[in-house]
Amino acid sequence: MCGIVGYVGSKQAQGVVVEGLRRLEYRGYDSAGVALAHDGTVAWNKRAGKLANLEKAVEETPLPESTTGIGHTRWATHGAPNDVNAHPHLGRAGRLAVVHNGIIENFAQLRAELEAAGHELLSETDTEVAAHLLEQEVAAGTDLTTAMQRVCRRLEGAFTLVALDGQDPERVVAARRNSPLVVGLGEGENFLGSDVAAFIEHTREALELGQDQVVTITREGVEVTGFDGTPAEGVRYHVDWDLTAAEKDGHDWFMRKEILEQPRAVADSLLGRRDASGLLQLDEMRLSDGELREIDKIIIIAAGTSFYAGMVAKYAIEHWTRVPVEVELASEFRYRDPILTHSTLVVAISQSGETADTLQAIRHARVQRSKVLAICNTNGSTIPRESDGVIYTHAGPEIGVASTKGYLTQLVACYLLALYLAQVKGTRFGDEIGEVLDQLDEMPAHIQTVLDAREQVHALARQHLGTRSVLFLGRHAGYPVALEGALKLKELAYIHAEGFAAGELKHGPIALIEEGLPVLCIVPPRGRDQLHDKMLSGIQEVRARGARTICLAEEGDDSIEPYADELIRLPRVPVLLQPLVAVVPLQLFACELATAMGHDVDQPRNLAKSVTVE
Ligand code: M6R
Repeated sequence: MCGIVGYVGSKQAQGVVVEGLRRLEYRGYDSAGVALAHDGTVAWNKRAGKLANLEKAVEETPLPESTTGIGHTRWATHGAPNDVNAHPHLGRAGRLAVVHNGIIENFAQLRAELEAAGHELLSETDTEVAAHLLEQEVAAGTDLTTAMQRVCRRLEGAFTLVALDGQDPERVVAARRNSPLVVGLGEGENFLGSDVAAFIEHTREALELGQDQVVTITREGVEVTGFDGTPAEGVRYHVDWDLTAAEKDGHDWFMRKEILEQPRAVADSLLGRRDASGLLQLDEMRLSDGELREIDKIIIIAAGTSFYAGMVAKYAIEHWTRVPVEVELASEFRYRDPILTHSTLVVAISQSGETADTLQAIRHARVQRSKVLAICNTNGSTIPRESDGVIYTHAGPEIGVASTKGYLTQLVACYLLALYLAQVKGTRFGDEIGEVLDQLDEMPAHIQTVLDAREQVHALARQHLGTRSVLFLGRHAGYPVALEGALKLKELAYIHAEGFAAGELKHGPIALIEEGLPVLCIVPPRGRDQLHDKMLSGIQEVRARGARTICLAEEGDDSIEPYADELIRLPRVPVLLQPLVAVVPLQLFACELATAMGHDVDQPRNLAKSVTVE
């Protein structure tokens, strides 16, 4: 939620900051603003609505020249998304500007204190109190870095703050607590960003910051301290993707590009996972085989699409390792009293590595001495840093708000984890594991086959313009796929959509069936006869009540033909791996229907890519 940019260097800061905001806009798009240090004060502009509104405003009335600036693109928490509540926020005298991501929980108390001292606050935001407090400090002669340390010690909640002082124009100072912030290391220039996309055009060298740290960037360097002023050091890393990965590259939408990138992303996530003798190896895991052998229970925690990846993982892990797996929404896990021991492995799945609920859930688990393993796509993010081990997915940057290649690569990581556990625990023979790894290696080609046939799905989606409700049915590993298909349609097309386990139909959902209702059915491969045939019965039952059945079934499965109003063919793959191909037509369906309805699929209403507040 919210994208933040900071810059000090020799280029014109307005251009660098606004360009950085364009690359971070997926993090929030309610309003945007920029502030530059100029002539002892702050020059700024901010606008409600998408970044284009700000871009137009600064094009019509350019801000003065400056080589130091900060910027913000907002997902509103406190206060409506209007011009006044947009960031930056200024101090009382207008010499200092602040942008912020997160929630300052004690802001009401701080605001009352400021107002009692005669401060007039203009917005409804929690951010403005930080601007006034910081400016109060620098006006009293404190340097901005020390001011930031002092103010942060008074703040409660989660926040990234970035500030500039017009009277100290050669530095930008930032702080983070439970909210993302990375530093971009340039030559004679340095950057701040909510993630590396903010500065990838300028540098691929980055510095990861810890919790409760303050960072000061100047042209010459970067200085990190704790909130108490103690010197600290960030962790330097190289970003292994470049600008083209963060561009639309000729596609109309990032989402469309990311769907089409899935064969590559899956292949990259599988790369280098076998050693010379063919054994599975997970280099970044950081958990020893001895520790893994002791695991007697796994709890997977995640949110949204990542949660549905976790549901698929349960089928795979339990089948291959016989270790019991629970899958739980991170937001629920935290607030009950989960039973965890030192032999419980908590697996946190998060594309961004910054989801607040998931982060808090892993902290909860670690306090109870459980081992935590992250499955994550974002190097340098908080969740892997705070976990005992990590399996990185290699999807490259995912910019569309709806997760697509992020999900597929999470599935791959889950399969790898399951197989690795089977290897170290000896619950499967080496040749069985090798066979599944071979099958996984074939998946990029299978996914490509599904993509090559996308015109059929696109045409089908366009036929559903005006549809008000869609149901998705699946069984076994196809059930979470049904849930994921429904989520995609909800978040992109704003259509009522629900996923059900087909076996549950007669326990209630069948009452929803009415004439013409589209029901997308994920048919399990025929190799699993029981599952397949039971699914067929479910399809017949909804069709008998008037549903229009759109069936996803493997090549050569003729038994489905009499019951499918529309048939989408899937490549023949093992049942546990079927989610990797079955979800793709559902992504295409949602993307095409939403774009045909005129929606912005990269920035759906009310959503933001990374949910860093509770
Ligand atoms: O970054 P994370 O994987 O932790 O994000 C979890 C969810 O917020 C995310 O999957 C969300 O549901 C997406 N919009 C789904 O497309």
